[in-house]
Amino acid sequence: MESPKEPIVVSNPPTGVLAEGGRVEPVREILWGDFAGSRKFETSEELPAEMRKLIIRLMVVQADTEFASIQQHRPWLDSSPTLEDRWVQARIVADEARHGLQACRILRDFGEEGQKYIDELLTKKEGEHKLDAFNMKFERWGDVGGFTCFVDRVGVYQLRAFQECSYGPLARAMPLMLSEEQLHLNFGLNVLRRMVKDGARYAGSKEEAQEAVNKWYPRALDMFGHSHSDTSLRAINFGLKRWTNEEARARYIQEITPLVHSIGLELPSPDFDRHIL
Ligand SMILES: [Fe+2]
Ligand SMILES: [Fe+2]
Repeated sequence: MESPKEPIVVSNPPTGVLAEGGRVEPVREILWGDFAGSRKFETSEELPAEMRKLIIRLMVVQADTEFASIQQHRPWLDSSPTLEDRWVQARIVADEARHGLQACRILRDFGEEGQKYIDELLTKKEGEHKLDAFNMKFERWGDVGGFTCFVDRVGVYQLRAFQECSYGPLARAMPLMLSEEQLHLNFGLNVLRRMVKDGARYAGSKEEAQEAVNKWYPRALDMFGHSHSDTSLRAINFGLKRWTNEEARARYIQEITPLVHSIGLELPSPDFDRHIL
């Protein structure tokens, strides 16, 4: 299905730098790819068939990750170490539920086909999700920190691309999601920082924090997908993705490396324990 005869070339590649944290003015026209310069797509009916399929697929994965993470957080909602952690974690879970709802609202615009996927998403149990990172349990408090610091941060890269994407309803959903995600990332890094600094006076230890880094960093890098993916090139040409998987992964490594070092932890090599290269 994914084996075109001709290699895919990225047309009108995206230019400029998307603001960190994602604050950009909404624009009406498509900024890169095959449809650069024309008005954004605003309804599911006007989408080319292949682009329609791809948006559905992206939204199903997006919603699946949001709902899965609620299941992962659940055991810790009433056992996190401090009052403030309990409140922030409950808020994170509420945010993820809202993000899942938002992705499903976009799916709903695709009529019966979208609704069929929503019905399926609602039945998914722990361990049945699409990406490995979302089938792993939070066994210790350090996992909550590692997951939010590393895995939520990958999600942000996808959302940043969507923020300026060629499908208007998707682009407009992004600013609020991005600002909520920022809280999740900061919380995750802070949990790890406190584990390193305060050890058992807070929770766990520096060693446990390092183990959480080693557990979640490889799964986070996998989430960007295969380095040579035709689907990701097509998504760029449709104006849906902004970076190839490899570009996004490299940017992520560049962002996370100084953060992890700043709290006194080490990152394993990017090849360590990887499943998807
Ligand atoms: Fe989310
Ligand atoms: Fe999140």
